[in-house]
Amino acid sequence: MEYLSEILKILDGALKANASMASNYAGLLADKLEGDGDKRQARMIRERLARAPAALASAQDAAKGFSPANLPTDGESHLHTVDVSYPAQGSESLLLSSAVESRVQEFLANVLRFDDLARVGAAMPSRLLTYGPPGTGKTKLARYVAARLGLPLLTVRCDTLISSLLGQTSRNLRRVFEYSQQQPCVLFLDEFDALAGARGNERDVGELQRVVIALLQNIDAVPESTIIVAATNHDQLLDPAVWRRFSFRLPMSEPDADLRRLLWKQYLEPFSSESLDLDHLAKVSEGITGANIEQVCLDTKRAVVLSNEIAIDEDQLLRRLGLNLALTDGRVLSTIESEIRWLSRWAPKYFSLRTLGRLYDLSTRQIRKVLKEEIGSGSQERTRAGVECEG
Ligand SMILES: Nc1ncnc2c1ncn2[C@@H]1O[C@H](COP(=O)(O)OP(=O)(O)OP(=O)(O)O)[C@@H](O)[C@H]1O
Ligand SMILES: [Mg+2]
Repeated sequence: MEYLSEILKILDGALKANASMASNYAGLLADKLEGDGDKRQARMIRERLARAPAALASAQDAAKGFSPANLPTDGESHLHTVDVSYPAQGSESLLLSSAVESRVQEFLANVLRFDDLARVGAAMPSRLLTYGPPGTGKTKLARYVAARLGLPLLTVRCDTLISSLLGQTSRNLRRVFEYSQQQPCVLFLDEFDALAGARGNERDVGELQRVVIALLQNIDAVPESTIIVAATNHDQLLDPAVWRRFSFRLPMSEPDADLRRLLWKQYLEPFSSESLDLDHLAKVSEGITGANIEQVCLDTKRAVVLSNEIAIDEDQLLRRLGLNLALTDGRVLSTIESEIRWLSRWAPKYFSLRTLGRLYDLSTRQIRKVLKEEIGSGSQERTRAGVECEG
């Protein structure tokens, strides 16, 4: 049957005496029918909706719809366990490699054509798990998915969901999943490992086990068409049973050179990137994340505006990139001298004595002296772990 998932949700709404759930999904059904050219049926549904007892729906809305007044809260800390946002189409400019992009499109197609696929038994549960290092765009991906589907994003902060009270975490989870059934949305479980950590982990095994079991039960209790996106930096911590519940798995990694070039271009806007050597930037920024590229660009753009310049200074941009890479690498560059030494080591061809002199407002003789001091004293920059790194 076409649109079975909407009809089941309307039925759920009726059975739970939840008028806003039933009418939200009826509205969605009308939109879909209209999209198919079935204007008459869409009109019939809307007319029926218009006749619904508005007072009842709005009273229930106040209690049940997505509104800041009734977000689920943790019984102990009274903090909200979810927040609702409405990412707009076009505002989430996510850049992906072609392989990842096609996997995301596959997921979106599965969601949008769920009923058609279900009819021939080929629908996959609308659940996507994304994993990878920090700053590679996992949260951005969840926003992008919601924007593309035109749905609100219900973000669950898994760490605030975990309560110190025994049993409260499972209750929090149940409330969040129930809340997600009020109206069509993307349920986003961020920092997912906090919840889905493998059973049998070292501490508090019993409680963790109960949380994982509650999570599995909640996932299984909602219809397969419920859109769930989960994100984690620690995929190796996930329980295999949780892992199996997600039919779409998307590894996010540091961008390759082509993607880095596009990221530089995107984040340097509105400053013209024509005068900059983007290929060179992409090449020397190997290993950096999208988040770091964005950060370097923001810092550089801010400096341009605050110093009343009109264009980006490529030397300054590369300097910021170099310092950002050092930081990512855990190197502590606490003095100007250590910065100069690092830049000259990192990109010796680029950071000539003259360029360094201009950047730091020093003469080439002074720069030469700074560089010599390092060789003379054998001093090398410390890494964050306190280990000496090679010069
Ligand atoms: N592929 C990308 N395309 C566009 N922007 C990106 C990309 N990767 C990262 N960014 C930018 O980097 C910033 C951080 O991204 P995001 O918060 O999605 O990372 P994350 O993977 O969720 O990190 P964490 O694991 O720390 O939560 C965002 O502002 C985003 O705009
Ligand atoms: Mg994130």
